[in-house]
Amino acid sequence: MALNLEAVGQKIGPVKKDYSWKDVILYALGVGAGFDEIEYVYEKDLKVIPSFGIAAIFEFLSHIAAKADVNYAGILHGEQELFYHSPIPTEGTMVTEGKITDIYDMGEKKGAVVVGESVTCDANGRRLFTSVIRLFCRLDGGFGGKPAPGSKVEIPERAPDFEDEAQPSADQPLLYRLSGDVFQLHVDPEFAKMSGFDMPIMHGLCTHGYACRSLIKNLIPGEPERVHRLSCRFSRPLYPGDPIKTQIWKVEDGKAVWRTINSKTGDMVIANGIFEYGDIPKDEIRFDDKVAIVTGAGGGLGRIYAKDLAARGAKVVVNDLGGSRDGSSGGSATPAQQVVDEITAAGGTAIANYDNVATPEGGESIVKAAVDAFGTVDILINNAGILRDKSFIKMEPENWQAVVDVHLNGAYHVTRPAFAIMREKGYGRIIMTTSAAGLYGNFGQTNYSAAKMGLVGLMNTLKLEGKKYNIKVNTIAPLAASRLTEDIMPPELFEKSKPEFVSPLVLFLCSDRCEVSGNIYNAGVGVFNRAAVVTGPGTVIGDDAKWPAIDDVAAGFDKISSLKNGKEYEELNACVGDIINAFSAPPQAGAAGASDASGKFTEAAAVFKAMPGAFNPDAAKGVNVVFQYNISGDKGGDWVCEIADGACRISEGTHDKPTCTLGMSDTDFLAMINGELPAMQAYTSGKLKIGGDIMKSQLIEKLFKL
Ligand code: NAI
Repeated sequence: MALNLEAVGQKIGPVKKDYSWKDVILYALGVGAGFDEIEYVYEKDLKVIPSFGIAAIFEFLSHIAAKADVNYAGILHGEQELFYHSPIPTEGTMVTEGKITDIYDMGEKKGAVVVGESVTCDANGRRLFTSVIRLFCRLDGGFGGKPAPGSKVEIPERAPDFEDEAQPSADQPLLYRLSGDVFQLHVDPEFAKMSGFDMPIMHGLCTHGYACRSLIKNLIPGEPERVHRLSCRFSRPLYPGDPIKTQIWKVEDGKAVWRTINSKTGDMVIANGIFEYGDIPKDEIRFDDKVAIVTGAGGGLGRIYAKDLAARGAKVVVNDLGGSRDGSSGGSATPAQQVVDEITAAGGTAIANYDNVATPEGGESIVKAAVDAFGTVDILINNAGILRDKSFIKMEPENWQAVVDVHLNGAYHVTRPAFAIMREKGYGRIIMTTSAAGLYGNFGQTNYSAAKMGLVGLMNTLKLEGKKYNIKVNTIAPLAASRLTEDIMPPELFEKSKPEFVSPLVLFLCSDRCEVSGNIYNAGVGVFNRAAVVTGPGTVIGDDAKWPAIDDVAAGFDKISSLKNGKEYEELNACVGDIINAFSAPPQAGAAGASDASGKFTEAAAVFKAMPGAFNPDAAKGVNVVFQYNISGDKGGDWVCEIADGACRISEGTHDKPTCTLGMSDTDFLAMINGELPAMQAYTSGKLKIGGDIMKSQLIEKLFKL
């Protein structure tokens, strides 16, 4: 099979990995830690060996190989570079995203090099480390590509400054593989022979873990959190049980070069080692290359958003009409200009803009100001606002209209031209400002509540339209002391409610780290929570053919009204999907005659018959995919599984445009479904062949509980 050269540049991931302190310790044991480094193997004051990161994202690494369609029998881990941005926590979630950056050709009998780069973050988007991996694919060379550029680390001519001996056990790979790399080359004698080795070999990354421990022990004892960089080339295979020594030369403050030698044969098993260490600079959230517009930023909350964004590097358009609290009097340039003066005095970059958000021309002009001054728009905070409170009967059309014009129409006028620019560049962060008055109601504010809730509707749909372009749209419901709230809030609360309490969440939602879209957050006085539209499970009355009677509805009203076990929908289709599914057949186990006495599936047809019953519509929110299964053998066949609008449809045969194709023998397929063959192992061993969008195949485990 030829390498897939089209894979270069295509996004891989995000791949999530949850891990606990036990995984951290298992890894440490796998790379030889014991009682003399108790901090790596005891949950009390546990520390993470930084090289754990690469073992933890093994699944992601296997996607690189799969995406490039490499021949697994010839694959070796060639080079590994790791750059640490924050210490790895002792438990949590790692989220890894990356791409193949290059595929090099070393020649027909020499092999190919596939280079994959990725960034791994924690669940809150904090960057943990960047990995650059070079996979050496011995059987894939000769496709006429360019050769890999050479690189060599200079080793000083003196004797090593530190030398650390270690004796991995003859069974070491059996322990190490439990950290994720279950590739047969390290366990299966036959597979190892087929790959040209006398017996299973050590994982290169296991030896790498030994070396990482040695480097820390000699250069920054007890401080693994100070490792910046760990790079090396895996130059020779190592057989389990062979003794190793890691040789280290300190070349400058905070930098060493190193290598690992097989002490029995003298072979260099790891070469080109670089180790950098010291205090890791804090991985701050910054907006250095970003242009932000904040409307209504002449005072109150907007002023603080603008100042905080500028303090972290953003170039800011400070928009404010400078009108009165109810918007009735004319504008003034003073408030916006004053905020700009504050920003520039503090060393930031900002311009003032005095346009009115309540008109289409005003909205266009605000966005144009950003483009004219700074070339683009990355962030938009729709914040401008006025109040005209009256009880509903006294709410004359002009008071209704003025409030809707500034809040709801204002957000539309500015967001529309900004969204066009964001869509073009494939990046954007938009904030809508709602209010507790809209979310929950407040006497005397019908105009304001309606406008503020209208913004939630605007967000709900805009988040869908922006999704493909990495435009995240979220909504904030602030609580803060300002001229809008001075006569509404109790004085004690007013005193405590500085806008500075709200701004950090708004800035986070405006940052690269923000992965959510379509969420509503309350924020004030240091209290933060999320609000959402929740739909109860309800009830089905009658069948979908006969209209229910009013008495049936009355009888079922408690059930209809209950929010117990309620859920959120990401979009209309998911909700409609649930309505359709409410009338579909109840879940079935393996069909009669197609499963054995223990309930295991004995033929593929039964698996596909059971699939609709095992479908989890919650996991299918926003998912539109077609899986084509081609199962060979007597008990196999071809099936199509279509997931759309929150529903699952199974049919026999083939689809002309599947999202991904899964090919397997009937025996392996049944073993996998019956839990006897882990999917990952099936994949890495070549028993499961996946074509098309490989990442989408990962959804299968979430979509079906067979
Ligand atoms: P604020 O009155 O201090 O700030 C609003 C700013 O918007 C003012 O500087 C005003 O000149 C400007 N503005 C008004 N109409 C404009 C227009 N047509 N074009 C351009 N600028 C215009 O009030 P605050 O409290 O800072 O409010 C900010 C946002 O937060 C508003 O949307 C408000 O509804 C919302 N909010 C505030 C809450 C709070 O507790 N302060 C509670 C819930 C929502």
